[in-house]
Amino acid sequence: MTKALWLLLLPLLFVSASAAATQSTNNPADDLVAVLNNNRTAQKLKSLYDNPGLACIALQYLKAYQGDCGAIGGPNAKKPADAEFAETFAPNCGVLVSTMSPITGRLLGCQSRYVEASEAFSDILMKNSKALEILYNKNDTEVGAAVSGTDGGSPYFWCVMFSTGNTNSSFAFEGGVAKATRPGCFSGANDECSSAYDWSQNRRIWPFAATALLAAGYAFGL
Ligand SMILES: *[C@@H]1O[C@H](CO)[C@@H](O)[C@H](O)[C@H]1NC(C)=O
Ligand SMILES: *[C@@H]1O[C@H](CO)[C@@H](O)[C@H](O)[C@H]1NC(C)=O
Ligand SMILES: *[C@@H]1O[C@H](CO)[C@@H](O)[C@H](O)[C@H]1NC(C)=O
Repeated sequence: MTKALWLLLLPLLFVSASAAATQSTNNPADDLVAVLNNNRTAQKLKSLYDNPGLACIALQYLKAYQGDCGAIGGPNAKKPADAEFAETFAPNCGVLVSTMSPITGRLLGCQSRYVEASEAFSDILMKNSKALEILYNKNDTEVGAAVSGTDGGSPYFWCVMFSTGNTNSSFAFEGGVAKATRPGCFSGANDECSSAYDWSQNRRIWPFAATALLAAGYAFGL
């Protein structure tokens, strides 16, 4: 590698290192599940199993918005048709449709500025009483989270889905492995996500670049 290239990369390495120090994992979707489960256990509710199949579906769900933050919540709110789950989202992930369990709740949010998991949780996803009701559902057994940007940048999207499915058999991947679904990050698969997509870089630039703040949050049950 040439010296010039190193000089270009060096600042990025520092940014990544400082980001890693404040994060528990290298995947913002895993962080989001950790924050959520900490909140549940503080309420004496059981921790939810982080299901990668469900999380991958949550990422596909976000992608269906095609970067349109205005379609989440508010007067122009839209949501993908329920049939899309079995027809598009599951097959895109390699999730066997026959193993899908009911999704009991969805939390959805979008914002022009990238924020860490704890802030996304409390300031974007948990903004209304319906969201709290979904978070504290005693019947839920598993969860899946996804975080995504638009063409590698703003606006950023967050999605959490809950289910009552059997944790060791629902949302199973065909052949046991997830289909590659980059860009975007989903929880539960034990994979690193930030580096492949340069989250750290965007995260540092946005606080200074963002003037108008676009934000929306939405929550709904089954
Ligand atoms: C759990 O999350 C809710 C909603 O953001 C918040 O009001 C509550 O204080 C949190 N509880 C803990 C223990 O952090
Ligand atoms: C939990 O399950 C019970 C029994 O199936 C049902 O009556 C109840 O409405 C469920 N609660 C929620 C919050 O979905
Ligand atoms: C799933 O878990 C249940 C109870 O924890 C167990 O009885 C069952 O054998 C498990 N199934 C598989 C496929 O591992």
